[in-house]
Amino acid sequence: MLRLGIDIGGSGIKGALVDTEAGCIVGERHRIPTPQPATPGAVADTVAAIVEHFDYSGPIGVGLPAVVQQGVARTAANIHADWIGTHAEALLSAATGCPCRVVNDADAAGIAEMRFGAGRDCRGVVMVVTLGTGIGSALFTDGQLLPNTELGHLMVGGVEAEHHASDAVRKREELGWRKWAARLDDVLHAYQALWWPDRFILGGGVSKKHEKFLGRLTVQSEVVPATLLNQAGIIGAATLVR
Ligand code: BGC
Repeated sequence: MLRLGIDIGGSGIKGALVDTEAGCIVGERHRIPTPQPATPGAVADTVAAIVEHFDYSGPIGVGLPAVVQQGVARTAANIHADWIGTHAEALLSAATGCPCRVVNDADAAGIAEMRFGAGRDCRGVVMVVTLGTGIGSALFTDGQLLPNTELGHLMVGGVEAEHHASDAVRKREELGWRKWAARLDDVLHAYQALWWPDRFILGGGVSKKHEKFLGRLTVQSEVVPATLLNQAGIIGAATLVR
């Protein structure tokens, strides 16, 4: 079944048609820079433009970088504060004319990795960590998601994890791979000390370059790169409306 998946990120809003049985994108991904400021109205207009680009009608799965409870956004770390309390599903459904299901972006990416990627058939505790504008987390036990974990905001050495080791911080502070890997290692050690995952799956675009940093990490848990890279959020969101 083909479904439209949309991933709302801090720098880009990406959409693609997804084969929800095979867990892969069909055709080209379409990306529009995230409007600044990323207010609910501006983001909804961009989502509508993506839907129009694909000339799509039908249910849509959307990943939003926020805690999302029953379709309502509860936080806004890297998007406009007006999202807090916004019924994201109602807003996007009205803007697109299509029924939208909205979930946290890292949860969407995690669901895709567990079904079709590096977490396939993984039992035990798996923590998917997305490294992008922020740090997102998705925590699974025997394949079951505990939603909205928000571990990018855990304090690590007096700093929020995502202000210490997101991919945006690596770029902004022009950190070399060695320095950035050491910061990421700090974060993974903090997660390990509290949740003891059997496996970490590291996602986000930077996971494409995993050979630059994976070998420098010293946590005891197994650490593997995401296999769906930056497509996981789109794929996971689309599968939620199967
Ligand atoms: C947000 C999370 C999101 C993560 C990755 C964090 O700043 O609070 O909801 O999953 O960034 O986008």
